Amino acid sequence: MKFTIASALALSTLPLLTAANILPRTTTPTIPASQCNTGDLQCCLSAQESDALTQPLRSLLELLGININGLTGMVGATCSPLHIIVPGFSDCTAQTLCCNNNSFSGIVALGCVPVNINL
Ligand SMILES: *[C@@H]1O[C@H](CO)[C@@H](O)[C@H](O)[C@H]1NC(C)=O
Repeated sequence: MKFTIASALALSTLPLLTAANILPRTTTPTIPASQCNTGDLQCCLSAQESDALTQPLRSLLELLGININGLTGMVGATCSPLHIIVPGFSDCTAQTLCCNNNSFSGIVALGCVPVNINL
């Protein structure tokens, strides 16, 4: 009996969890590195969609006085300039991004799109 109730509960929660995961959320499309003309290539330890920021990045942005509601694309954290040595091979082992606002010395980078270094 216990088992049946537990199973029924598990089965009825499953669709809810699935629904939560497919809530509308922007996913910034990846561009080829050659199309990074309006920004700088950046190698960031982490990156998040600006409309789905989580801690501690959200607090870090607020600490820097950045209005998170005015952000578009992705936000990168702990960034350094990305160097593509040959297509598909770079000095970056983290997130490769093209960011149009690098006013924060790499602490964060704003207005980023993911970059495919193979193209
Ligand atoms: C970068 O973003 C910050 C915070 O939103 C803003 O104050 C600054 O003017 C921006 N810089 C450029 C170059 O867009």
